[in-house]
Amino acid sequence: MKFLIANWKMNGDLHFAEQYVQEMNDISSEHEIIICPPFPLLLKFKDCVHSLGAQNCCFASDGAFTGEVSPNLLKELGCTYVIIGHSERRTIFHETDADIEQKFKILSELKLNPIVCIGEKENERDNWKGILSKQISWMQNANLENAIIAYEPLWSIGTNIIPTTNEISEVAKFLKSQIDAPVTYGGSVNASNACTIFNIPNIDGLLIGRASWTSKSFAEIIREVEE
Ligand code: 13P
Repeated sequence: MKFLIANWKMNGDLHFAEQYVQEMNDISSEHEIIICPPFPLLLKFKDCVHSLGAQNCCFASDGAFTGEVSPNLLKELGCTYVIIGHSERRTIFHETDADIEQKFKILSELKLNPIVCIGEKENERDNWKGILSKQISWMQNANLENAIIAYEPLWSIGTNIIPTTNEISEVAKFLKSQIDAPVTYGGSVNASNACTIFNIPNIDGLLIGRASWTSKSFAEIIREVEE
């Protein structure tokens, strides 16, 4: 079993979510389908047959943290996965590896599965091993039992520029030599390239942005990798 994760980012509305759930409920897969909509839409997924994830969470379970979202509440709403450390959180909202480690800890305590995003920037491509090693260094002492590591090179997110199969394979092999967790790939995945990337050795699934923003294109990817 591999993972197919839909990251809606800040897209969708109440009506869109209702329709998406209806359409996705007609689709079955031998793989784990995880849909990560924005927080306010999570309630719309209570009858969804697939797994539910959030795109972020607070490092604390409750308290005086205005504007933050409790991982406890995410659990109550039916989430079993939470994405942490997405590059958009790191670059736009200045999240650090230390912040991400804190979030990881609370998720592990609450038995929520963390999807930890890592990846190098365009100008760091020559030093990807150094960058990724730094981003995963805290994981050496962490219990990764329920974690998924999502490799998303920043230069591939939203650009339609994809690393070669060999490049993805090399990164996945390196990560597997360092940490004991499934490794997924994200960055410009679509129905045409999904199957090839999905079948790269050491790749355990896909984290999909734009191509998951309609149930039709997400379903197409699920069908492609099923064949
Ligand atoms: P795209 O698939 O739109 O490139 O986004 C990837 C991503 O950031 C998923 O988390």
